[in-house]
Amino acid sequence: MPIQTVELRNISKRFPGVLANDRVNLDVRAGEILALLGENGAGKSTLMKILYGMYHPTEGEIAVNGQVVQFKSPADALAQGIGMIHQHFQLVPGFTVAENVALGLKSSRGPLTDLNVVSQRVRELGAQYGLHVDPNALVWQLAVGQQQRVEILKALYRDASLLILDEPTAVLTPQEVQEFFGILRRLRAAGNALIFISHKLYEVKAISDRVVVLRDGRVVGGVATQATNQKELARMMVGREVITQWEKPAAQARETALQIDKLQALNDKQLPAVKEVSLQVRAGEILGIAGVSGNGQRELAEAVVGMRLIRGGSVRVNGKDVTHHSPAQMIQAGVAFIPEERMVMGIVREFSVAENAILITHTEPPLSRRALFDFRAVNTHVARLVREYDVRTPSLETPVKNLSGGNIQKLILARELSRSPRVLIAAQPTRGVDIGATEYIHKRLIEQRSAGTAVLLISEDLEEVRALSDRIAVMYEGEIVGIVPPTTSVEELGLMMAGAKKDS
Ligand SMILES: Nc1ncnc2c1ncn2[C@@H]1O[C@H](COP(=O)(O)OP(=O)(O)OP(=O)(O)O)[C@@H](O)[C@H]1O
Ligand SMILES: [Mg+2]
Repeated sequence: MPIQTVELRNISKRFPGVLANDRVNLDVRAGEILALLGENGAGKSTLMKILYGMYHPTEGEIAVNGQVVQFKSPADALAQGIGMIHQHFQLVPGFTVAENVALGLKSSRGPLTDLNVVSQRVRELGAQYGLHVDPNALVWQLAVGQQQRVEILKALYRDASLLILDEPTAVLTPQEVQEFFGILRRLRAAGNALIFISHKLYEVKAISDRVVVLRDGRVVGGVATQATNQKELARMMVGREVITQWEKPAAQARETALQIDKLQALNDKQLPAVKEVSLQVRAGEILGIAGVSGNGQRELAEAVVGMRLIRGGSVRVNGKDVTHHSPAQMIQAGVAFIPEERMVMGIVREFSVAENAILITHTEPPLSRRALFDFRAVNTHVARLVREYDVRTPSLETPVKNLSGGNIQKLILARELSRSPRVLIAAQPTRGVDIGATEYIHKRLIEQRSAGTAVLLISEDLEEVRALSDRIAVMYEGEIVGIVPPTTSVEELGLMMAGAKKDS
């Protein structure tokens, strides 16, 4: 029977040192999109993992269509019609779409699964909801947005009628978000219930019917989306006014700190991704790179910091040739990197907060003297970072994998910025970060720039690029199509991002 209502009653979840959910009451109905809002660490993902049978609540109960249910695992939740699409996809890259959809189904055991039947159903669901994806394509060949569709198809194939979407738009480009919203609207119109988590208030405003706000594990409010606005939602979430626009002192023109000449690099499929890109970033300025993802921004950043082979051209830092330097040598040269794939490249999940906070700096005094850690100095340093950047963690010894997504991001930012680098490459620095922390990170990036760091900012968030940059370079198909002032309108930037050259 499809889901009519799902209720969470008085749910609490305790982890060592943290009350992640505190007597939460929440309900969702067929045919509505409920947005769940809250700062990093507020308890959103934990609550959803309880609803999906991944965690057991410390207290409280779940009722589906009025009947109390008990989930021992996600399989139990799925059997009741509850599906969850995680931020980090759980697909097998070497399998086709149809094989991934069939994976784990009872009938898929053994060699007799009829993949043609699966493919047919995938096509039907695709046509019904706009979830277009080729059932025979290999998953690793799909763009991120398409992989997400496979995750949704997997849940629908199993007859889920409540879909939980934990920060689904964090991995999508602005254009993909619009398509994705179309899919959500169709799912809603067909009578499904949806729970949508996002840190972007305009998305919540655009797509949801109702908003519930969590703070410190508790429900602090619920409103009809129509009856509220972004400002009020921000206040409910953070408990104060949020500043979205920073005063920026004028840039002081100084020497070139990062010089990129005719740089060339390939993408993971060994195709040209960066085509003779030349850029200069001066000390004390933020050069923003705007572009739809997949146009070479990521490869550019990785090539510059020594994590991707340079096929041509050169990189100089403070006049010194650093082309073909290793990542460690780039760090020595004063280059800091905030990678886009922070969960993979930026941390060691099993290590503690303190260990991750000093992953790179630990060989430098004052934290280390003659190859020995000065543990007191390390602890003081890390405690200060955690406090300044508002990283919510029970302790400095907590393994990083136990932190909420946004708090892991803040920790990496704290580490990279605290090194006072000469050059900072920041890729999507506020993706997945809540609005309070975004405010803080923007402030710190501007401070860092005003203190003389050359910042190369890569972001798909045009408002962010315009608010922070002193100049904006637009990248399209591996090339810089123009460099424009930050006063350039979103429309004009959008045109350039679609490939229209700027003659100037
Ligand atoms: N497996 C775990 N073990 C210990 N503590 C955990 C675990 N999972 C989450 N926590 C803690 O529970 C709290 C809530 O985390 P949760 O991931 O639910 O936050 P969130 O609202 O989803 O945040 P974000 O917006 O950053 O994703 C945090 O303090 C987090 O450190
Ligand atoms: Mg979360």
